Order: sequence, then C-alpha cells, then structure tokens
Amino acid sequence: MATARSSQSASLNSSLPLVEARPAAPAVDTDLVLVFQGESKKAQVPDGSKYAELLSKFSEGDVFQARHGSMQVVRFAGQGSAKNVVFLGLGKAAELTEEKLRQAAAMLWSKLAAEKFESAAMAFDASLSQVSHIRAILEGMLLSAYSFNKYKTGPEQSAKSTGLKKLFLISADRSVRSHLAQEATRALAVAECVNITRDWSNEPSNVGTPEYYASEAARLAKKHGLKVKVLSEADARREKMGLFLAVGQGSTREGKIVVLEYTPKGVKNSKNLKTIAFVGKGITFDSGGISIKPALRMEDMKHDMTGAATLFGATLLAAQLKVPNRIVAILAFTENMPSGDAIQPGNVVRARNGKTVEIINTDAEGRLILADVLDYAHEFKPDAIIDAATLTGAVSVALGKHCCAVLGNDEGLIQSLRAAGTANHERIWQLPLFDEYFEDMKSDTADMKNSANDGNGGTIRGASFMQQFIRKGTHWAHLDIAAVANGMGHLPYFPKKGASGMYVRTLAQFAAEY
Ligand code: BES
Ligand code: MN
Ligand code: ZN
Repeated sequence: MATARSSQSASLNSSLPLVEARPAAPAVDTDLVLVFQGESKKAQVPDGSKYAELLSKFSEGDVFQARHGSMQVVRFAGQGSAKNVVFLGLGKAAELTEEKLRQAAAMLWSKLAAEKFESAAMAFDASLSQVSHIRAILEGMLLSAYSFNKYKTGPEQSAKSTGLKKLFLISADRSVRSHLAQEATRALAVAECVNITRDWSNEPSNVGTPEYYASEAARLAKKHGLKVKVLSEADARREKMGLFLAVGQGSTREGKIVVLEYTPKGVKNSKNLKTIAFVGKGITFDSGGISIKPALRMEDMKHDMTGAATLFGATLLAAQLKVPNRIVAILAFTENMPSGDAIQPGNVVRARNGKTVEIINTDAEGRLILADVLDYAHEFKPDAIIDAATLTGAVSVALGKHCCAVLGNDEGLIQSLRAAGTANHERIWQLPLFDEYFEDMKSDTADMKNSANDGNGGTIRGASFMQQFIRKGTHWAHLDIAAVANGMGHLPYFPKKGASGMYVRTLAQFAAEY
C-alpha cells in the first residue's frame, strides 16, 4: 500500500496533507461521499451503504439533490467511526466532465477547511475509478490547500495549509487502489510545484529580489536533482545583454539570470530526446521606470515575475513526473525602477544579437529583457522555445480572464501548447502575428523601438518585437499570462486573492508530450 507524502522544506509555507490509499477506511473524523444527481442510492460510501437511507430522505425532502457543487454536512454525536459526513453533489452522471469534478472537489476542500475537519475518507467505486476522474478530484482538492500567510502574525500564521491534515482514498479493488496511490503521489507533486510558483509570485519585492529568486532556485534545484547556474550582471555584460542590463540599471538590486537544466535519466534512444527552452520574464517589481505607472494597484506589480515563476514550477514538476524531454529554463530576474541611473525614453540600447533598440516607453520592459534571453536560449540548440510573461495589460482587454494568449511562428507548437492547456482547463487562445504588425515598431533612429505610438494591438506588438530576436528556423511560442497570473478567485481551486499558479500543470504536460 503506497503512501504519498509531500516532501517539505522550511521555506515552503504551504505544507500539504498526508494522502494515502487504503482498502478500508481507518478512523477519521469525516466521511466524504460523492453523489450523482438522481442517483442518491448509488452514493460512494466508504463502508457499505450506511448513508443510503439518509441520502434518499434528503433527496425526497429536497434537502440535498446532488446538484453540481452542492454540499450537505451532517454531524453525528459520537456514533460509529466517522463523526461527520459531507455529501458532495456532482450533478448528473451523464454531464460529468473532469473540470466539473475538479471544481466540485475544490469546493468540498474549502468546506472541510471552514468546518475545521482534520481527517477524512473518500471511497472510489466503479463509477469514479478512471484515472482521469481520480486525477481531477485530487487536483481540485490539493490545489485548494494553499494560503499565503507567512506575513500574518495572528492565529492564521500557524494554520500552515488550509483543510484536512489526512486524506484516505478507499477502494477494496487492488488495481483501483494502485491508481489511487499513483495519483496521490502525482497530485502532491503538482500541488507542491504550483505552490512554489504561487509563493514566488506572491512574495513582496522587498524580499523577492532577483538575488532571492536566484538563491531559492539554486536551493530547490539541488533538492530536486536539477542542474542550475546563475548569471550575474557581470556575466550578462560579458554576454552583451545590453537590453537586460538597461532595464535593471535604475535599480539598486542586481539582476540575475537563472539557467536551470533537467535531463531525463535512462532514455534509450537519445535521438528522440528533444530540448525545450523555457524563457521567463522575472521583473521582481515593475514601477514602469521613468514612464512611471499610476499608483492605483501598482502593488500588483510584485507579480511581474510570474512568467519566470511559472516556468520554474513547471520545470520542477516535469522533473518529478520524469518527462522524456530535456528542459533548459532561462529565467531573467531584474527590477524596473526610476532613478538617476534609469534608462530614459529616447535612449538607444544594443541587444545581445547586435540590433539597436530605441526605448520609447520604459514600461515596455518585459520584451526588452526577454529579447536578450531569447537570443541566449538559442545557444542551447532548442527544438522549441516557449516564453511566458506578464507582458501586456492589453491581453486583459482582448481575452479577459478565461485564457492566456499564445503567439508564435510554428502552428504545430502552438497547437501542442493549446492541447495541453485544454486538457488542464488552462485554456490558451491564439492571436495573429502577421509581419505587418512590426511596421509600427520600426524606429527612425534605431533598428526598432520598444513600443508603438498608439496602444492598439498591444499584445501582438509585444510579441512582434520579441520575434525579431528569434533566429530563422527556430520554433517559438510566446504566452502572455498578464491577465491570469493573479486574481483568479472565480475558480474554486485558485486562491481568492494573489497568485494563481496557472499554467504550471499545462507546461509540464506539454514538456511530457512534445
Ligand atoms: N508588466 C506590465 C504588464 C501588465 C499590466 C501586467 C497589468 C499585469 C497587469 C508590462 O511591463 C507593461 O507595463 N506593459 C505595458 C506596455 C506598453 C507600455 C507598451 C502595458 O501593457 O501597458
Ligand atoms: Mn512594464
Ligand atoms: Zn512588466
């Protein structure tokens, strides 16, 4: 009987519960019962059908009809092994989807947290024993066990994670039980990596400096057996990364570029082994620089390193899932600040690839740092380069919060990313990248400018700028995650406030399947 336990570390503030597969339920304070609408007699009951009668009464009395996401808590005064039972409605069996399961399971987890229940058992019979169902349920629950409370000094601080401390997954069937154990291990890895991304993104920029992320990356990479190298600003200067350095020159904090490498072990045919380069925007705080941003919600600009955080989490997850491709993640951390040393509108700066850029707007800084690291990524001879960035406010205008944008030069690559996104309900929508969009980015003084004169097509123009740094024959796709990096509380498995950790699962799956 396999036990899955999260590996924990001092700086991980969200400690995950114990999740174990068992043939029969041990003593717990709560039974969790999943019920399809109109099928209350076929409830998933841990030991026998002791709740069947109760459920039919609830159904007849219109107390609980098992509509999707509905719940009924019953507390028993000290009878039997479980003191409480929570019924969770899944809606009609014929209308079941993985996302509905994920969402219902997340709502259940929040309920358990609110009720302060500590240990629970959930049984899986034939109607919910498919691996995809088990996976969705466990993801929904474990992705909900997160809170960023390291700066709270009251009782909230001691509540390390939210919800159960112990979750038992029950099946008398040996093969179902082995799936349960396997999926428990997987879901804990998913939650651990998504939570690292969330923690990084939520970290305020007085602590979350480039130096901090570089040292955390090195520590976590070592723990997970990955190779890591950190480039200093002196290294970046030797690499002629003029754009990366220009963005950080107004900050007192030194920029860092993290290069993380995962190579699968024991791959038989290494010719099939592809190299995927992940390139992340890690602006630890985006004030806008001299083209300074308005004060309203400027605090959210601590999240401007979420592209880098997402790719870090995805690489760690891909490594834990032992994906069969090589990954090189290049994460560029620096801070965009106004000062006497800061870049100014009208300045001309030379990029690593030799091209010159006229800075029109110092707030269009993400594309500048990415230009240099995208060029650097070519040195690893990647089969594909994927970058992720909170690049433009315009992507919120175009797409809202229900997907991120993808743009690139390879339809096959874009479709692979989109398919992985759909499978995880982290949807990705393509925007065009016609050559004509670059016309607006040409400069009278230099080879190009970093922003156009009007605000139209902002997401595309950002991508069009970056495309100038992709060499002929290199497959590349850019994800603009500015709208979804934080504030995704409308989905029950994302925190109400702060970082979502969205696209970690998708990018790890992409790395597995590309
Ligand atoms: N980090 C911002 C994009 C952003 C905006 C992310 C809002 C999340 C929420 C980026 O660096 C930026 O400032 N982009 C400018 C580009 C413009 C100056 C061409 C923008 O979108 O306004
Ligand atoms: Mn900016
Ligand atoms: Zn930015």
